[in-house]
Amino acid sequence: MKKNIVIIATGGTIAGESNSKGYDSGVLTVERLLESVPQLSGLAEFEAIQFCNIGSQDMNFSTLQKLVQLIQEKCDRTEIDGVVVIHGTDTMEESTFFCDLVIDTDKPIVFTGSMRPNSSLSADGPLNIYNAVLAASSEQLHGYGVVVCLNGEIHSARTVLKSHTTSVGTFISPVSGVIATIVGNALFCQSKYRRLRSPFIRSQLQDLIPFPRVDIFYGYTAMNEDLIEYSVSQGAKGIILAGMGNGNVNKSVVDCCVRLAAAGICVVRASRVANGPVVRNLEIDDSLCGFVVSGNLSPQKARVLVMIALQTGVSMNEIQKLFYELG
Ligand code: DGL
Repeated sequence: MKKNIVIIATGGTIAGESNSKGYDSGVLTVERLLESVPQLSGLAEFEAIQFCNIGSQDMNFSTLQKLVQLIQEKCDRTEIDGVVVIHGTDTMEESTFFCDLVIDTDKPIVFTGSMRPNSSLSADGPLNIYNAVLAASSEQLHGYGVVVCLNGEIHSARTVLKSHTTSVGTFISPVSGVIATIVGNALFCQSKYRRLRSPFIRSQLQDLIPFPRVDIFYGYTAMNEDLIEYSVSQGAKGIILAGMGNGNVNKSVVDCCVRLAAAGICVVRASRVANGPVVRNLEIDDSLCGFVVSGNLSPQKARVLVMIALQTGVSMNEIQKLFYELG
């Protein structure tokens, strides 16, 4: 029997159309996108919803909270087998991680998009949509949490990283590798990875309370700390350092962040390096400084976790534990 899949479109390059210079994201409707994949009707029954139509660089957390509510509502219906979300690739890492932390279901939730606009030669969108519906219909993906499906590969929201500005094979999962590969109509699971239980499940569904401001600062040679101080003076409650190597920053930035941590700001050391964890107390004494380390989470995912943790009142002492458990 065919599975029932809900397809929710939010925009992105996949819904893009060429203009005289390049292309505009988020132009085509979900109906137009699905017309380019007539093979879908042989695969699943589906309901298509146009949720919004934006480039994902314009995604924000109140829109994401509403998207979470919609996905949860669909997953709670017994007749629904899985959900596909069509989304721009630029912020897919953050959106999928956010959804993964708060949605309560074992059903597959599969984000897809494309790197080439719909009107381009050899557009990758139609096959990505087909594969995403295949993945959302698959029993094999139950319990894996939110995943990203592009270029015939399936990645966990926890591990996925956009690694190339334009290539169709942009998504990678450093260290852990892919969950599964799709060839034709077959899904080959390569990982035993199972979703870790998040303490935030359903916590963002009721109230659309604004999130606290958390800013990311990129590390570089002779980094200056004054913008970090400015960000806190403007209300930031969390600072994510995309530090060098194992999350390192120069002494003046460390000193500034020690002062901020003592004043109750959540300071997280993440890394500008794409591969490998940030380890505690190596060159910087995090225990003494009052810092948190991001473990396996990239700066952009560390920011999502800190925003949710601070909004739900998690204590500073608990935040490091969360990174170890969820990263
Ligand atoms: N502006 C980007 C976005 O919507 C384009 C990238 C894409 O969708 O692949 O995320």
